[in-house]
Amino acid sequence: MDTLLQQIDATAAYLRQFNYDQARVGIVLGTGLGELVQHIQVEKSIPYHEIPHFPESTVESHTGQLIYGRIGNVKVIAMQGRFHYYEGYTMQQITFPIRVMKALGIQRLLLSNAAGGMNPAFKKGDLVLLDDHISLQPESPLRGLNAPAFGPRFPDMSCPYDKELSALLQQTAEASGRPLKKGVYVSVMGPNLETRAEYRFLRMIGADMVGMSTVPEVIVANQVQLPCAAVSVITDECDPDNLHPVSIEEIIAVAGKADQHLSNIFAAVVQQLG
Ligand code: HPA
Repeated sequence: MDTLLQQIDATAAYLRQFNYDQARVGIVLGTGLGELVQHIQVEKSIPYHEIPHFPESTVESHTGQLIYGRIGNVKVIAMQGRFHYYEGYTMQQITFPIRVMKALGIQRLLLSNAAGGMNPAFKKGDLVLLDDHISLQPESPLRGLNAPAFGPRFPDMSCPYDKELSALLQQTAEASGRPLKKGVYVSVMGPNLETRAEYRFLRMIGADMVGMSTVPEVIVANQVQLPCAAVSVITDECDPDNLHPVSIEEIIAVAGKADQHLSNIFAAVVQQLG
């Protein structure tokens, strides 16, 4: 079997045929957060299952596509939909697209996700800038053989979210009249949501919101020295003393309502990265 490095090279070579290597910004769009695509002048869109070495799709990821286009004058690659660990992929598989985007030459990475809000100041529909994270997923995407070309074996994580890019997101949100809140995101394996006792525990260890994605991608972005920033949409309020049942349909519906605002912010930020 090809090594991971050979697979990245092959996938990047495939995407280069369609000019994906001209992109300077990469974007990963979370659950229910696809509206940004309306801001993109799409030049090419490839379903994940057609891209060499991309993971075989599951139900959740099968509608995913990798988009190349421009927002204003800035060329972007956008992942409409991402791969999650709970779908059964390995950590290397779910972070493979990040390594490919880096190989294609992107210089900044923006990520979004849907998350449960545990900080009592967070309300449904709020947009929260990730200030830091806690990984409670079962393993690191960096486990296993490490090619020196990837970057350090033991990457520093003292500042996982790029300060300048995060400040630009905040300034842009403020200019729109709705500043972002800030918080610590904890990533869990899922796919089940949490019990009351688990929300209590996650809050106690210092997290403001909880979700099932983003952290593996951010760890890899840090290893390959790709500055990144991320925003959560709060889709449910997780107060252990007043917890209501929540369904994935409700989560997607709440994400959908906040999507336009988040997409406006991402689009405005991308244009300032030109
Ligand atoms: N827990 C975990 N992941 C989530 C949640 C939650 O409450 N809401 C949205 N994604």
